[in-house]
Amino acid sequence: MARPELDQFRRAAIGGHCAAAALCHLAALARRHDLHGTMASYADITEPAIMALVNRFYAKARRDPLIGPVFNDAVEDWDEHLEKLCAFWSSVMLTTGRYKGNPMAAHMKLPIEPHFFERWLALWRETAGEVFAPAPAAAFRDKASRIAESLKLGLFYRPGGSHPGRLAGSNRAAGV
Ligand code: HEM
Repeated sequence: MARPELDQFRRAAIGGHCAAAALCHLAALARRHDLHGTMASYADITEPAIMALVNRFYAKARRDPLIGPVFNDAVEDWDEHLEKLCAFWSSVMLTTGRYKGNPMAAHMKLPIEPHFFERWLALWRETAGEVFAPAPAAAFRDKASRIAESLKLGLFYRPGGSHPGRLAGSNRAAGV
């Protein structure tokens, strides 16, 4: 299957751009790709494929009536957010260590309710299936379910208590 993004990426990298610039360029291409509604089915988990997944997922999440407002109220710079999430999934799936952050702390300050995670995961599962071939899509779904569970536990679980609460957390607690 033709992958114009990959050719662009190679050209940018070979042309002497730094990797970050090539990735930014690629993010813009992937976003344009999304707007057309057609999507390659990636057989391998690569940085361009992760970008396609992340961009497509957040385009949906932002429009979602339940979880969309959380994103639209909290995220000021979407390019920065998408780059951060690409780094996150790159660290999770390709163990690149590109992500340096604390997902638990980031979510603690947000108005998230436990059932929001079901919607998040439903959109993620759907999008993974649109972007990836079945085996890599399953790997993304599995990782996201585990991380969501871990975030939910950290955010809402109170040992011996019935009230949802917020606990301090770390990358480790979020499974990263
Ligand atoms: C209820 C579902 C969720 C909602 C509404 C939500 C919303 C958000 C929002 C609004 C931000 C940006 C925070 C800011 O910029 O201040 C964010 C950051 C982030 N989210 Fe979520 N999220 C959800 C679930 C998840 C899940 C399941 C994962 C991972 C599988 C995840 C991974 C991340 C990461 C890595 C960041 C970046 C944290 C940082 O600043 O380093 N989120 N999320």
